[in-house]
Amino acid sequence: MPEAVNVKNIGLRGVTVADTKISFIDGEKGVLIYRGYRIEDLAEHSSFMEVAFLLLNGILPGKEGLKGMEEQVTDAREVPDYVFKSMKHLPKGARPMDVLQAAVPALAIGDPDIGEETREANFRMALRLIARIPAVVAGWHRIRQGLDPQPADPSLSHAANFLWQLHGKRPDPEMASDLDVCLILHADHTFNASTFACREVVSTRAHMYAGVAAGIGALSGSLHGGANAEVMKMLLELESEKDIAGWVRGKIDRGERIMGMGHAVYKTMDPRARFLKDMASRLGIKTGQSRWHELSTKVEQAGLKEFSGRGKSNIQPNVDFYSAPVYHMMGIPRDLMTPIFAISRVAGWCSHIIEEKFAEAQEKPALYRPQAEYVGQYCGLVGCEYNPPEARN
Ligand SMILES: CC(C)(COP(=O)(O)OP(=O)(O)OC[C@H]1O[C@@H](n2cnc3c(N)ncnc32)[C@H](O)[C@@H]1OP(=O)(O)O)[C@@H](O)C(=O)NCCC(=O)NCCS
Repeated sequence: MPEAVNVKNIGLRGVTVADTKISFIDGEKGVLIYRGYRIEDLAEHSSFMEVAFLLLNGILPGKEGLKGMEEQVTDAREVPDYVFKSMKHLPKGARPMDVLQAAVPALAIGDPDIGEETREANFRMALRLIARIPAVVAGWHRIRQGLDPQPADPSLSHAANFLWQLHGKRPDPEMASDLDVCLILHADHTFNASTFACREVVSTRAHMYAGVAAGIGALSGSLHGGANAEVMKMLLELESEKDIAGWVRGKIDRGERIMGMGHAVYKTMDPRARFLKDMASRLGIKTGQSRWHELSTKVEQAGLKEFSGRGKSNIQPNVDFYSAPVYHMMGIPRDLMTPIFAISRVAGWCSHIIEEKFAEAQEKPALYRPQAEYVGQYCGLVGCEYNPPEARN
């Protein structure tokens, strides 16, 4: 038994809990690397399918390997009918992240590989999850509007097909390509809360779907993936605000958070935010909605000035800050912004699940089992005296 280390009540900040070969962050320098490759190079030259292959396999695919991956994911897009049927019974006001989280065990039930614990079976399940999560998100958006889910179009790329299944019309190719870049940027991020949740769950030998469902739950929180929807809420609230600097100052004075700013690991601007900021500017011009980029920039500048005045110049925009205006300009409803994060992050989650299950970065698998210090009522090892309800005061 290793010696106990006391790292309690700090949310495991700075505590290394495992080895991983999947991604790396230099938080001081603002560098993110997937399997050795810089995020900037991948975002500029790669595709989400190629990145998913890279994360899952550890190497970039050759031409045939990429084609095979694309074909397998395209072929797996169809969501079993019983899943959509059950979604049709849900209240139309259900939150998309809750629906998505509920759909994952439903998908597990029909997966022919469930219960088979080989790497190959887990790889096939990963491809099905990557293929079907977008279809569930798009399907729910249609179901809640009283429409039928839109069947997938095998001629379309992953991102383009999602927009097609969501809106039921051919997506603009440039917009689909921008969405593909967003998916690359969100695909993995070392031991963030949702990935850690996935890994912790499968360390018990639970199956991949159980891990992914936990990941979706963790991602939904506003301090994690839920932040993009909160950023959009803030931007909509600020649309007619004249005094942005005063608004930002007031919020920080009240001890509230400026959503989309700050990061547990980055102490400089998140490299993904830099990319998304340029995209927001370009999309603003393309769609005639430059006001969102301008407004976000004003909030960013006011935030940076305010934080630096308080000795917190390390609080800078994170990935969610500019992804919100980007998705908004793509016509994506606010409550689908976090599900889009999940559409991308599922590639990272599944890669980490496989790494955890098959101990690909450590000697052997290890069940996560941290300790907590008991600080509650204590009457010694004999226990407190138990009295029946009528004898308690
Ligand atoms: C992401 C986040 C939780 C990381 O925080 P962290 O670096 O681990 O540090 P803490 O949450 O402990 O915050 C440290 C201090 O900075 C402040 N702070 C951090 N981010 C802030 C923000 N966005 N707005 C206002 N204050 C912030 C905290 O209030 C805290 O102040 P205190 O020391 O006076 O109590 C935090 O920056 C945050 O809440 N950001 C907004 C939500 C968000 O965008 N999440 C998506 C992350 S990708």
